Amino acid sequence: MSEGLVTASYIGATVLFILTLGGLSNQETARRGNLYGIIGMTLAILATVFGPQVSGSLSYILIVVMMVVGGTVGITLARKVEMTQMPELVAILHSLVGFAAVLVGYVNFMDETITFGTHAEKVIHEVEIYIGILIGAVTFSGSIIAFCKLSGKIGGSPLLLPARHFMNLGLLIVTIWLGTLFIQQAETGGGTFPLLIMTLLALTFGVHMVMAIGGADMPVVVSMLNSYSGWAASATGFMLSNDLLIVVGALVGSSGAILSYIMCRAMNRNFISVIAGGFGTGSGTAATSADEEQGEIIAIDTQEVAELLLDAKEVMIIPGYGMAVAQAQHTVNDITKTLRDKKINVRFGIHPVAGRMPGHMNVLLAEAKVPYDIVYEMDEINDDFPDVDVSIVIGANDIVNPSALEDPNSPIAGMPVLECWKGKTTIVLKRSMATGYAGVQNPLFFKENTRMYFGDAKESLDAVLKIIQSE
Ligand code: TAP
Repeated sequence: MSEGLVTASYIGATVLFILTLGGLSNQETARRGNLYGIIGMTLAILATVFGPQVSGSLSYILIVVMMVVGGTVGITLARKVEMTQMPELVAILHSLVGFAAVLVGYVNFMDETITFGTHAEKVIHEVEIYIGILIGAVTFSGSIIAFCKLSGKIGGSPLLLPARHFMNLGLLIVTIWLGTLFIQQAETGGGTFPLLIMTLLALTFGVHMVMAIGGADMPVVVSMLNSYSGWAASATGFMLSNDLLIVVGALVGSSGAILSYIMCRAMNRNFISVIAGGFGTGSGTAATSADEEQGEIIAIDTQEVAELLLDAKEVMIIPGYGMAVAQAQHTVNDITKTLRDKKINVRFGIHPVAGRMPGHMNVLLAEAKVPYDIVYEMDEINDDFPDVDVSIVIGANDIVNPSALEDPNSPIAGMPVLECWKGKTTIVLKRSMATGYAGVQNPLFFKENTRMYFGDAKESLDAVLKIIQSE
């Protein structure tokens, strides 16, 4: 394949990737967006593999073998992974991007066949290597810790080392100093030592950065590492002089940064203070005895839930992580259809950080074929709760916690929540009185107009569906 054809294919792939991002911004166009992405990636791989940079049958054999191995692992993982494990899968995949950037950096550093037209070009290449390895190493270790936190292998509470901000500042200064040392030593063919030390420091920084972020702020970490992996890919593109990788990395990097900003806004957090760490606590702990002071809860049974729903004119469904765990989305859709057939207005209220990844609830509802036009973002419907007869909270907890608005000492203080308690009645479906992801008790459960309906969300809703279908 000629250089010109490769360039044309890269431009085509870039356009397709931009269209992908545009498509993914909306549920109706998301499938099309994915299709553009698949075509763009196929084009990019073909143009790279058959381009002038790859030659010799050994290279082709290696590429095919690696693609078969990687593809098999990828397909196996994608088939096996549950929807609820998606965030940790994304986190571990980000770590691979970081790892690849580190490896490419070292290979470039050791490659003696690369020639440069001018001295300045050589220095720029060394700076690219240094920055590429730095971002790659932070992404790699940070993503592994995020994976461990999200999968519960390590606790969600933030690690708050004394003088941690000074430690980070110190690491930054030493990294810059090592960078200058690296460039100086590389002049005479050296530089391995500062590069290795910087890699170790960057790995330590990645671990420390994510360890210091509390459970409640993990949504921001996922999108932030997404952004880092983009910049790591972009840095790799610079090292390999591959324009497509530079552009695609920048697209991923900037879209991840925008997503982090949106997440911060949704949780009313300042990005810098999230990264500096310290918010949030553990996850999923049982209610403590002090919480009993909050008052009595009122539990109800299946028949009462069915009656409340059938008597309502306006129903709001608020799904959360528990709906994903119970895989109750299809039953939720059947209940929605049945109620709408009975001329009851049913809407969905989606919190931006409901579940464990951006858009988690939207994906599940789309899978169950819930019509898009009755699914609303929090900002669109939060003022409507006073007119709602029954809000049904399905396995959600933190996103409907009034203490976010009322208790300035709460770990989730300031996070906007779905204010369902302003409606006539709220039914909460969960299995116990355990807390949600942020590890804080929820005063909603103790309100006079709240009814607790205990049990697995799918089993409970199946029972409700049976009754309302027979009425
Ligand atoms: P959570 O606050 O985690 O609450 C989920 C609730 O579901 C739990 O209280 C649990 O109570 C219940 N549950 C679990 N399995 C269930 C089942 N089979 N049937 C019925 N109920 C079940 O979830 P949320 O309200 O969706 O809030 C999301 C939280 O995750 C926020 O704190 C957010 O910051 C965090 N987070 C979000 C993301 C993104 S990007 N969305 C990423 C990481 C973290 P029981 O155990 O009593 O059943």
